[in-house]
Amino acid sequence: MKAAYISRYGNIDDVKLDEQSKPLITENDVLVKIHAASINPLDLRVLEGEFKVIQPVKFPFILGNDFAGTVVQVGANVKQFKAGDEVYAKTDQNGAFAEYTVVHQSSLALKPQNISMELAASLPLVSLTAWQALVEIAKVQAGQKVLIHAGSGGVGSIAIQLAKYLGATVATTTSTKNMDWVKDLGADIVIDYKNTDFEEQLKEYDVVFDTQGGKTLEKSLSVLKRGGCIVSISGPPDQAFAESLNTNWLLKKIIPLLSWSIRHKAKKREIKYSFMFMKPNGQQLAQISQLVEAGTIKPVIDTTYEFSRVKEALKYVNTGRSKGKVVLNMLP
Ligand SMILES: NC(=O)c1ccc[n+]([C@@H]2O[C@H](COP(=O)([O-])OP(=O)(O)OC[C@H]3O[C@@H](n4cnc5c(N)ncnc54)[C@H](OP(=O)(O)O)[C@@H]3O)[C@@H](O)[C@H]2O)c1
Repeated sequence: MKAAYISRYGNIDDVKLDEQSKPLITENDVLVKIHAASINPLDLRVLEGEFKVIQPVKFPFILGNDFAGTVVQVGANVKQFKAGDEVYAKTDQNGAFAEYTVVHQSSLALKPQNISMELAASLPLVSLTAWQALVEIAKVQAGQKVLIHAGSGGVGSIAIQLAKYLGATVATTTSTKNMDWVKDLGADIVIDYKNTDFEEQLKEYDVVFDTQGGKTLEKSLSVLKRGGCIVSISGPPDQAFAESLNTNWLLKKIIPLLSWSIRHKAKKREIKYSFMFMKPNGQQLAQISQLVEAGTIKPVIDTTYEFSRVKEALKYVNTGRSKGKVVLNMLP
């Protein structure tokens, strides 16, 4: 099958588009013919080798985390899905930039019926990230005030819609050109991060969803009220994340030290800091499908590329300027 893969860590020019063997299923897996896939900054970080110490990959490594497609074959223990079902998922073993992928049944969900394969492929990683941050960790309640950084990004554009659904008042940061666009997604307060300091404008927030890390993460502490929480997907990893890794005891001790400073500053203000690395989850994705079918969450695509232009698509995401998601049409 045709696949986009790397044979070593490097940069986008090291991505090859060529034949790879079709993956095989075991009893709990599902083989899916991919119709569309979407690109995430995570694909770039993996190919650059950013996680090679904690989660090394095996070469040749097929890239891609998100897909939508049609079930071709199911393993003996799979009862929930059958050949012909239209499904979508965040990958859990094989890459998504390929004609076929294999995924464990627990990671898969039926695709929302009211949207195209391209729109469905834009959702899994970013919507699960938003769900796990806002519902699972922050437990956002109606009436709470939530700040979401980078509302125009893949994660932010879905997080705004989810936080509104949960009943929160939502503030978000974006640049001048995207201000009206994120308002249309549902944001109540929009801060132009290029011209205004968000930490001067927002006070007594319950939750910050940090997608930026660094100075943005630190400044976000002053936006929160005592007892508030900050969930970061780009900041330094914490103890819970280190424990979840399949790595040696020394790394498990060292990794949480990276977040000592921010945890210390947060604790002084009685704020809870959590780092989060999203996980595939078919049950959560099925709930997201319901929200999409109800029109509560609308996926947003910036650009769709043909699969043959995967390197161009990766380069565009690498600019950090995309609005919503960048999608690959995987059908010939
Ligand atoms: N830990 C996890 O599980 C996890 C999961 C998903 C994503 N992530 C990480 O989270 C980050 C965001 O992911 P994404 O998919 O949303 O990325 P993305 O779609 O590439 O984000 C692009 C958007 O970010 C905005 N942006 C850039 N700098 C900004 C700033 N300083 N303040 C506010 N907005 C800014 C840009 O808007 P302008 O053009 O207006 O600047 C652009 O629309 C990435 O670093 C990704 O690796 C982590």
